[in-house]
Amino acid sequence: MTSAMSDLTGWRERADAALARALPDPSLPPQRLSAAMRHAVLLGGKRMRPLLVYASGVALGANVESLDAPAVAVELIHAYSLVHDDLPAMDDDALRRGQPTVHVAFDEATAILAGDALQSLAFEVLADAPVSDAIRVSLLRTLAIASGVGGMCGGQALDLAATGNGTAISVADLERLHALKTGALIRAAVRMGALCGGASSTELDALDRYADALGLAFQVRDDILDIEGNSATLGKTAGKDVAQDKATFPALIGLEASRARLQELGAAMTAALAPFGARADALAALGRLAIERDR
Ligand code: IPE
Ligand code: IPE
Ligand code: MG
Ligand code: MG
Ligand code: MG
Repeated sequence: MTSAMSDLTGWRERADAALARALPDPSLPPQRLSAAMRHAVLLGGKRMRPLLVYASGVALGANVESLDAPAVAVELIHAYSLVHDDLPAMDDDALRRGQPTVHVAFDEATAILAGDALQSLAFEVLADAPVSDAIRVSLLRTLAIASGVGGMCGGQALDLAATGNGTAISVADLERLHALKTGALIRAAVRMGALCGGASSTELDALDRYADALGLAFQVRDDILDIEGNSATLGKTAGKDVAQDKATFPALIGLEASRARLQELGAAMTAALAPFGARADALAALGRLAIERDR
């Protein structure tokens, strides 16, 4: 195993443990809500966003203890976004991370509340991060912007507006949609790690370029896997984007051009990381994973 790959394994375990500690005790009331929150977060997931926090933080010289809070916070926001994405009013999905979705395993009202409470918990965890006040405010601001109307929620709104007429949108608008619904949290993950490491504005700019390419690649790959993958491997229902006439890269430009786009985005990531040299090995490995993943 390369050292970047063993770093990733260690960070994944670290993120899992920190998430389990941050979530509410399911033996205390309100048990059903706490159990739903734990179901949403702890049962699977690749932990891509926490890994990006650790990889960018360590590349910039942050100590790993300071990275747990942003790693947990961004995964809590991501998990909440999935719980709500799967609701009947949104993508109406019954399978997530190889498990019944939260509204199926529990009920719709509990799924809505679990998403809400996961979002609040994310900001509580960041507010308690063991970093300077100045960095803590930057982390809170970064994640708040990425989660809201100018980030993930805004992207989800654009996604819903294009659902049912998925090919009526331009490629530029689709890129904007993907940059918001998926790219914003990925950019925030990379940026929060770098902020903990005291990155300069030049370093932050380079990492933004890497993260923007990765965020788009991650969703283009997700769109391809919805067509080429199977539900058992993906842990979520394949084939839903065509069925719901979603705006996706394969729908707009075809599979072959989508794969070519992934290769271009891979080259953009490599170029953006070049100034960091070997410090960015784990970030580079995560970039490859985004492009090559099969789940
Ligand atoms: C799924 O994200 C939703 C997208 C933004 C494409 P992931 O593929 O990271 O899902 P998990 O966290 O591994 O379940
Ligand atoms: C999800 O996009 C993006 C967010 C949850 C913000 P998708 O709807 O494509 O994600 P999957 O395919 O259900 O994981
Ligand atoms: Mg969706
Ligand atoms: Mg979905
Ligand atoms: Mg998808």
